Amino acid sequence: MSRIEVTFLPEGRTVEVDTERPIERHDGKPGSILQIALEHGVDIDHACGGVCACSTCHVVVREGFEDLSEPCEDEEDLIDSAPGHTLTSRLACQAVPQGHRDVVVEVPNWNRNFVKESHG
Ligand code: FES
Repeated sequence: MSRIEVTFLPEGRTVEVDTERPIERHDGKPGSILQIALEHGVDIDHACGGVCACSTCHVVVREGFEDLSEPCEDEEDLIDSAPGHTLTSRLACQAVPQGHRDVVVEVPNWNRNFVKESHG
């Protein structure tokens, strides 16, 4: 299985992804949750441009957590300092679905509020 579905909450938007053909035209690691989101018009903040240097792309993984690429130490440190992080938090720009199961992620409230405010 390389075609999986990635669902973004709370919008409930589900997109189909072929993990063997990672998208490589946006910020973040090829095939990452952030790239999948941006490619499909789902807004996830990414202040540092997807280079694992902020935590604004923080998402809470509701399903498929174990099928995401392993976090590096920098990501773990950033998540530890992210507001409201959980045991299944990841940075969307670093977490790459491996294609064995569907993934559901939730974009936390404070990120959405931030996006809304930054748009005036
Ligand atoms: S966008 Fe900055 S760490 Fe992901």
